[in-house]
This record gives sequence, C-alpha cells and structure tokens, in this order.
Amino acid sequence: MDNLIQVGGLVVDRSGQRVVDGIGFDVPSGSLTGLIGPSGSGKSTVMRCIAGVQKHAGGLVKVGGYEAGSRMARGLVGYQPQRPAVYLDLTVRENLSYFATMIGVGASGVSEAIDRVSLGGEASRCVERLSGGQVARVSLAIALLGSPSVLLLDEPTVGLDPVLREDLWRLFATLAAQGTALVVSSHVMDEAERCERLLLLRDGRLLADAAPSALKAETGTTDLDSAFLAVIRTRRV
Ligand SMILES: Nc1ncnc2c1ncn2[C@@H]1O[C@H](COP(=O)(O)OP(=O)(O)OP(=O)(O)O)[C@@H](O)[C@H]1O
Ligand SMILES: [Mg+2]
Repeated sequence: MDNLIQVGGLVVDRSGQRVVDGIGFDVPSGSLTGLIGPSGSGKSTVMRCIAGVQKHAGGLVKVGGYEAGSRMARGLVGYQPQRPAVYLDLTVRENLSYFATMIGVGASGVSEAIDRVSLGGEASRCVERLSGGQVARVSLAIALLGSPSVLLLDEPTVGLDPVLREDLWRLFATLAAQGTALVVSSHVMDEAERCERLLLLRDGRLLADAAPSALKAETGTTDLDSAFLAVIRTRRV
C-alpha cells in the first residue's frame, strides 16, 4: 500500500459548526508532509480524523487501506496530540512502559523511544516535575513506540529550544527516509521549510498542496512566510 493515508471529501462538524469542509489528500510511505494554516483552520481536527479519534460527517479517511479508527488502522498509527496525553503522577519510563504494554512493545523499545527524544537523563523523573517541552517529548516518545508506519505529530516542537528542534527535525527526516509516512503540523515557517510537501489549510479547506519551493515560486516570494501570507490573502476556495 503506497498511499498509507487516504483522505477524500472529508467533512467534520464540531459543536454544530463545519470546521473541515471537503478536504482530500493522500500521503505515501517514506514522506514528510507539513500541515500548516492559521489557528483554528482545522489542522488538529484533520489529524484527529486520521488517528481515528474524531467523528466525521462525510468523506473517507483510511490508513493502510483500513478505515481510520479501526483496530487495524490504529495499529499502524503513532499520534502525538497537541495537548500531551500523559500520566502526570508516573515517571517518564513508567508512562512509556504503560503504553508499550498496550501495544506489545518490550523494554528495549521503551528505552529506544526515550533516547530518540533525548530524555535519557529524565527517565526516572515524575512527569509532573518536568518542563513543558520535556512533557511534549514524553508524548512524542509515546507516539514513536513500536516504530509505527504512520506518525501524526501535532505541533511536536512547541516550547523547544533551537538545538532540540533541530534534533527532532533530523529524526523526522530519518524516519521518512526509513519509510514512515509523517504528517507534522506547525506554525513555524522555518520548520515548514523542512517538509517535502505542505498542505495549507484555511477555514477547514485545503488552499495549497505543494512543495515549499513550488509554493514560493507560484507566489513569486522568496520566503515561506511571505508565500503563506500571499496564499492566505489571495486564494479563494
Ligand atoms: N473540542 C472542540 N469542540 C468544538 N469545537 C472545537 C473543538 N476543538 C476545536 N474546535 C473548533 O474546530 C475548529 C478547528 O480547530 P482545530 O483545533 O482543528 O484548529 P487548528 O488548526 O489545529 O488550530 P491551532 O493552530 O490553534 O492548533 C476551530 O474553529 C475550533 O474552534
Ligand atoms: Mg491545533
């Protein structure tokens, strides 16, 4: 299955409002796709649909050919929600071990995930005593457990310093090179630049689906910030 993620004609209503309005895109294995757009444009909602934790009113969402949210689809997905879903009263390692047990990953897989997010020194600390950026990395490590084929990372680098961000983006590129399909949301344009493809959302619609270089060329701009503004201001859908 080359297109690990398939989204077609996706429509989502939340609290009676249409927040995703007919979005479609496919994501192949071995790729790094950025999901960008203004606050409230629907990035997290689209990710939640792919993760299978958000009902949709119309369209299709499939992972590895299986209906999103089904047992088979969930088994393929690692998801880091925007708000970390971790146990504050457990240590870093205990959190990882808890989720690892549920998906059949052993102790070596736990240690590997902790190392990948550079939390080795914090493994025995209680999560409620960690900084915001450290908690976010615990949540990322949980998503990485078991080396899933699809990784959905909702603003994974918020609150991190430039060195850690650099490390994580290098990790994302490595995982893509190894065959993982990654979808990463971000507000930060220098991060969007690192994606091979960008999906630009506004008001629950897909305004652009292009490589960063193509987006700049199409808008006659030299930086992604300007390209983003040009698309947001001029494109009507
Ligand atoms: N729990 C919720 N209940 C009802 N509506 C919600 C809920 N969460 C988000 N929404 C609405 O859905 C729309 C899309 O929100 P979403 O969180 O997907 O946006 P986003 O692009 O991820 O924004 P941000 O960049 O701020 O994270 C917004 O209009 C928001 O108000
Ligand atoms: Mg969001």
